[in-house]
Formats: sequence, structure tokens, C-alpha cells
Amino acid sequence: MDKLRITGGQRLSGEITVSGAKNAALPILCASLLSADAVTLANVPSLRDIDTTLKLLGQLGVRADRGRNTVTLQADQISSLEAPYELVKTMRASILVLGPLLARFGEARVSLPGGCAIGQRPVDQHIKGLEAMGAEIQIEHGFVIAKASRLKGAIIRTDMVTVTGTENLMMAAALADGETVIENAAREPEIIDLAELLIAMGANISGHGTDRIVIQGVERLHGAEHTIMPDRIETGTFLCAVAATGGDLMLRNTSHHTLGATLDKLREAGLHIEVGDDWIRGTMQGRPKATSFRTSEYPGFPTDMQAQLMALNTLADGTAFIVETIFENRFMHVQELIRLGAQIDIDGNTAVVTGVERLLGARVMATDLRASASLVIAGLAAEGSTEIERIYHLDRGYDRMESKLQAVGAQIERISKDNA
Ligand code: EPU
Repeated sequence: MDKLRITGGQRLSGEITVSGAKNAALPILCASLLSADAVTLANVPSLRDIDTTLKLLGQLGVRADRGRNTVTLQADQISSLEAPYELVKTMRASILVLGPLLARFGEARVSLPGGCAIGQRPVDQHIKGLEAMGAEIQIEHGFVIAKASRLKGAIIRTDMVTVTGTENLMMAAALADGETVIENAAREPEIIDLAELLIAMGANISGHGTDRIVIQGVERLHGAEHTIMPDRIETGTFLCAVAATGGDLMLRNTSHHTLGATLDKLREAGLHIEVGDDWIRGTMQGRPKATSFRTSEYPGFPTDMQAQLMALNTLADGTAFIVETIFENRFMHVQELIRLGAQIDIDGNTAVVTGVERLLGARVMATDLRASASLVIAGLAAEGSTEIERIYHLDRGYDRMESKLQAVGAQIERISKDNA
């Protein structure tokens, strides 16, 4: 397994181009199942989760022609309606093929995603919504088995706000008979990106970006071209890194519009931020200030930035209270940050971080994607050498992170298992 070795203490300075958003690209790739025509995507990030999704779609019969940051998908010869356990267990977002397969082919078998490092993460709301649209769904031998001759429009109110749940239902409703209203819908920018692709494919959708999405089903969807939105979490991660190390980073091909809550907190921590249409510049001098926050659904502070802002707080002047409200077990990075000298106490879903003047390099282990990113940030700011094991988690969701950081002055290298 690859690991990262970081020699901390370098200020970051220079430019980084942000990649396309993982959490927009994954549902959008799955949306290609909704049409027999070609769907061409640009700004597709190079990530392990994208490889896994393309593998899954390939097993279903979708043809993919991949270029540099582009992919053209064509689902005109679907040969299987099953998402197998081997793929779903490595990537829960595989559940996103359920809605499109059921809507277009009247049937789908998707292995039930189990819990994962950050929580139980059930898919009951995806199932409840599809049942409201007339699907017959059974859980057998660990599979969700769904059937429907044609889905019918319905009014669906999810019990909690769910991002992939909203996406699955929106895709299914696009081909359903009649009008579907999703109430309590997620408002994440990635939902808007997916809706824009679906509209380009001929879907009739309004209200995306609000908590009430209205979809008038159509008989068929056609091909389209679409550019994936920039990754707001990758952007926020690099901004946390420069806030922790000091320096001056210019992030290109990104958007400040989707990052309001994160930028507010970083400003509070002392990062000087300037923004333009498609760039954000972060400049940091001196020690960060402690900044308390609680995670919540968009437009609140994203759970996917919690670990990274916690890493920044470990070095801050003062004490921060961090409350995680979305996932019940998303503090796995805390034990690892403590190895680097952080002072963190956990009380239920609250982490109390008392900033220390310095962290010291150590060997740590990545436990999930955003936990890995928090360890990279802490390692960049720590004195001495930090080794992060199990960075396959990082490769799931960050596009060449160590090369991007090297280019702005970080001393970070990947040690492959072959030359470890
Ligand atoms: N939930 C249920 N039942 C459901 C669906 C969700 O109880 O049917 C619960 C979950 O267990 C969780 C809460 O509702 O406690 C919110 O979960 P949500 O469904 O919104 O999460 P998700 O769609 O599985 C996406 C992102 C995550 C991100 C969350 C929250 C993708 C592919 N994944 O997950 O991204 O943390 O929304 O914003 O979009 C990451 O990129 O590191 C990541 C984990």
C-alpha cells in the first residue's frame, strides 16, 4: 500500500488548478444510464472513485471513451441490471445506478451498501422514494431488488436531507410518468450540477438548489455535453493547508459561490481571502485563530470539510468546539491528529480542540477520505517528518494531491509499496 512522507514546515506559495468535483461527477456518470445516446463530460477528475464508477458502468454494458479529463459514455447496449457487491462495497455511491436503471429498464439489482468508517449510512430514503413512485422493492440476500413497469410521479418528502437520495430520486423521476415533487430535498451545488446535465438531456426540472424540486417526467432523454463543476471540497482543503502552513496560494478553475460557509470560517481563522470569477486566493501570516463550527446541510458548513478545519484548529490560538451533525462516527482522524501532538477531547458528537503552538511529525494512518486530507494538512504544518499510511483513501477523492502540493513548495512524496 502506498504511503505519503511529508517534511513539514514549508510555506505554500504558487498556483493550483482545482479539479472537477467528485461528488458531482459520480451521479453525473450514472445519469448516462438514462439515455441510449452519448453523454460527453468535461472536467472529469482523475480519481479512484471515478475508475470504480466507470468499471461498474462497464459491467452494466455502458461504453466509455476516456480522454484527458473527458469521458464519453454510451448506454445503448445495456447487458446487465446488477451492481455487484465487490464494487458497491468499495464505493457506496454505486447506489446511484438504482434510480436510472429502474426508471429506464424497469428493473435493478443493487448490492446493499453496508455501513462505512464514518457511519451506518442507510439507503432507506432512496427506497422509500422509489416505492412512492410505484416501485416494488425487496431486500434479498443483501441486494436491493427493484421492479416497476413505469415509475409514476409522486410527492416525496424524505425524512432527512440526503444528497445521493435526492440525486437518485431526481434521476428516476426524470423518466417517470407525470410530476414528481421532492420535498426536503438536498440543496448542495452538486445537485444543481446534476440537474443541469439532466435538463441538457431533455429533462424537465425546476427548483433544483432549493428544498423543493419539481420534475415533470418525459418519455425519453437524449445525449448531451456537460462540464463538471469545480470541486469545492478540494478547494477548501488547499485553503486549510495554506492557512495551516502560512504562505500565498492562488486556486484556479474554482468558484467561491459554492464555498460561503467554508470561506467565512477560514476568514475567522485569519486567512486573507480574495476572490474572482473563477479563482480564490488565500494568504496567511502568523498563527491561526480558533474557530468553532457545526456541520450541517448546504448552505451550512460541510461535513466533508470538518476534518480539514479541525486540523487547522489543532494549531490555533484558542479553543474550538466542533460539532458533527451529519454522520455519527466522523471523528476517526482525532486519534491520528493526537499522535502529532494535537489536544482534542471528544464528548459525544463534539470535539473540543485546544490549539497547541506546534505539531510534531509522526507515523499516522488514514481512515477515510477527508480524514486523510486532515492528516496531510497537519503533516505539512508539523515539524519534522510525518508518514501517512493507507493513502488509498486519499486517492479515492483527490486528484494527484501530492503533485499539486509539491508544485507549491510542499515537501511531500509518495512511497509506493514496491520501493517502500
Ligand atoms: N441517511 C439515512 N437514510 C438514507 C440516506 C441518508 O439515514 O436513505 C442519513 C445518512 O446516514 C447521514 C445523513 O442521512 O447520516 C446524510 O447522508 P447523505 O445521504 O446526504 O450522504 P450521502 O449522499 O451518502 C454525500 C456525499 C458525501 C457527503 C454527504 C453529506 C456523495 C457521493 N457523497 O453522501 O461525501 O459527506 O453527502 O454531504 O455525494 C466525501 O466526499 O468524503 C463524502 C463522504
